[in-house]
Amino acid sequence: MYVPDGVVTNDRLSRLMDTNDEWIRQRTGIAERRFARRGQSSSVLGAEAARRALADAGLEPGDLDLVVFATMTPDHYFPGNGGLLARALGLDRTHAIDVRMQCAGFLSGLHVADAFIRSGTARRVLLVGAECHASLFPWKDEDWAVLFGEADGPVRPEARAWGTLHRDRAVLFGDGAGAFVLEAHDADDGRGFLGFLMRTDGNHWDKLHVPGGGSASFPYFSPEMFDDNRTVPIVEGRQVFRLATTAMPEIVREILDAHGEELSDLSVLLMHQANLRINEAVQKNLGLSESQVFHNIQRYGNTTAATLPLVYHEARAAGRFAKGDLVGFTALGAGLHWGAALLRA
Ligand code: ACO
Repeated sequence: MYVPDGVVTNDRLSRLMDTNDEWIRQRTGIAERRFARRGQSSSVLGAEAARRALADAGLEPGDLDLVVFATMTPDHYFPGNGGLLARALGLDRTHAIDVRMQCAGFLSGLHVADAFIRSGTARRVLLVGAECHASLFPWKDEDWAVLFGEADGPVRPEARAWGTLHRDRAVLFGDGAGAFVLEAHDADDGRGFLGFLMRTDGNHWDKLHVPGGGSASFPYFSPEMFDDNRTVPIVEGRQVFRLATTAMPEIVREILDAHGEELSDLSVLLMHQANLRINEAVQKNLGLSESQVFHNIQRYGNTTAATLPLVYHEARAAGRFAKGDLVGFTALGAGLHWGAALLRA
């Protein structure tokens, strides 16, 4: 994993919007998050995580057959980040594809990587999830300096007004990157990804979406859409909360059933980290013990496609699962896309 060094606490965030540490902690569990600085685009963050994952696996970029990049904040609206990442790793013949599935992006990327490997089309796949949500804010360098605690202001009134208008969403997200190197596993020892269950219900597309900046806008971009804030994500928080706390437990039960496993067999369930209260509700619904869940949203916020590798990496480092243990994954995000996976570590 790789996260930028810019830490933004809730108190610092309250300089740029009408919010406070107590509200954010109570409603979301988040205490602080990292934000990227200018120049730390999602492909730059992703490349650093990729280098670390390759080093951890003892492999070189040239060993890869496929690169998959999941993000909802790509460097450009086209081309996607896959090719930019491959270039950063010195690859110019390795196929690189993009996954655009928001908070379900890394899980969907895993599903894609698994399918390429199972079909024999690829033996080694690099999967990266990375986000630079900071680039969605209209703040200037002087505002960021206040957020990072490097200056004391005064804060521009228009910067604070924008923050307050979008405070329900602005407090939720953070930046970071994570990567997996996946390899075909020929030994008959039951280890590896056992399976995936993935779902999409496009009827809920508007619960989480960006109204402007797309072919439906016609024109794709217009000066008015910036004036009207139509380039800012819409988050129907309460509805997403309800959908997440219903759909995630349901699909976790379903995948365990499909593989003849019980909830008690799970060493740990790694959930997308959109809101600690969502994950506590999922834990309660499933009757999982404290030792069967692991959260790091407190320090990173919702890092969208980077979340699952961040949480996997930190759970692994904390010794929360060992070789042979059953690890579950679940995520839900804009689309609406959701799913679950089982890994025999
Ligand atoms: N600071 C202080 N007060 C705030 C803030 C803030 N940052 N944001 C909202 N409030 C106020 C509201 O104005 C409202 O005030 P009012 O009662 O006077 O009208 C009050 O707090 C309650 O607001 P709600 O929106 O009802 O708060 P809720 O408890 O539902 O929590 C939240 C909102 C945290 C957004 C929650 O609904 C949630 O986490 N939902 C899911 C998040 C989500 O969708 N994440 C994205 C998914 S991922 C993806 O694919 C991109």
